[in-house]
Amino acid sequence: MALSEVRAKALPCRPGDALRLVTLTSDCIDAGAALSDATGWNQTADDWAIFIRNGHAIGFRDAADRLVATAAALPYGASAGWISMVLVADAWRRRGLASALLAACVEHLRAAHIVPVLDATPAGAAVYARIGFAAGFEIDRWEWKAASAQSGAAKAALASSARGMLPAGPSDLDAIAALDRASNGLERRFLLESFLSRPGTRAWLPRNGRGFAVAREGRRATQIGPLVAGSESEAIELLAAAFAPAGPSAGRDVFLDLPRGRPALQDWLEAQGFVRQRPFVRMSLGAAQPPTLGETCVVLAGPEFG
Ligand SMILES: CC(C)(COP(=O)(O)OP(=O)(O)OC[C@H]1O[C@@H](n2cnc3c(N)ncnc32)[C@H](O)[C@@H]1OP(=O)(O)O)[C@@H](O)C(=O)NCCC(=O)NCCS
Repeated sequence: MALSEVRAKALPCRPGDALRLVTLTSDCIDAGAALSDATGWNQTADDWAIFIRNGHAIGFRDAADRLVATAAALPYGASAGWISMVLVADAWRRRGLASALLAACVEHLRAAHIVPVLDATPAGAAVYARIGFAAGFEIDRWEWKAASAQSGAAKAALASSARGMLPAGPSDLDAIAALDRASNGLERRFLLESFLSRPGTRAWLPRNGRGFAVAREGRRATQIGPLVAGSESEAIELLAAAFAPAGPSAGRDVFLDLPRGRPALQDWLEAQGFVRQRPFVRMSLGAAQPPTLGETCVVLAGPEFG
């Protein structure tokens, strides 16, 4: 289905719905966070603030002024922009709201000649494929439950494999942003700056300077990512550094989003007690080819941020 057909069909919804299309402002952060929380997602108020401050975040309000649907476009420089936070309250689903908001986000990016990219849940992929988003590589969300905590010996092994890592922080932003850009071509210094400045965030750099890892607090779990490494073995060392304080020592659940096709990393995650929670697929609209996995070994910042 063409974008214009989706738009024509989707707006307005039904007579009497009295829905208003709104641009989200900082006053909408709590309502947005309530919507993502109700769906079981991990975003915090700080995350919503990024979409509102740095992107084009929109939604629908119902007759009682409740925010019932959202979507956001987040440009990462001149070439690619992320679309995410496509959320519709249960009672409003299958009435074209997601399609309408998606169309508006796509147009916002395309007006600036930016390729729309996103990491879709299976439900979201059904909406995006209809307007021509092409599917690329698959991603798994891995989850570690604090309830499955390890033995003392396993914790000690984890600590020793993380020994080559140096703690990093906001003063390392230049180095971290450069490594991130080199691995994915995205200009998302503002995102890393936000992550690194949050009180609960921890970050690491290996002594060889070839990568980094960031772990930040989420609504449900600590999220490890982004992580960039020159090889799977270096990624495992960085992950060990990030995981030990985030999970076993803090007693918090941990999430991380890993593109498929990294067998050593997957084995390592399983050995720590991580399980696959849900799949995502990276999709893009109007690019010369569907998204492909780069050479660098990465853990994503999250499906909402790429
Ligand atoms: C996915 C979601 C955003 C869809 O919102 P929505 O407003 O119901 O979507 P639309 O009404 O615009 O759907 C348009 C089309 O997409 C397809 N679609 C939507 N939801 C679907 C689902 N759960 N399964 C299969 N197809 C679906 C259908 O073809 C639908 O058209 P139809 O109703 O005429 O058959 C909503 O279910 C939701 O918030 N889910 C939880 C959060 C989520 O997964 N968001 C996507 C993140 S990538």
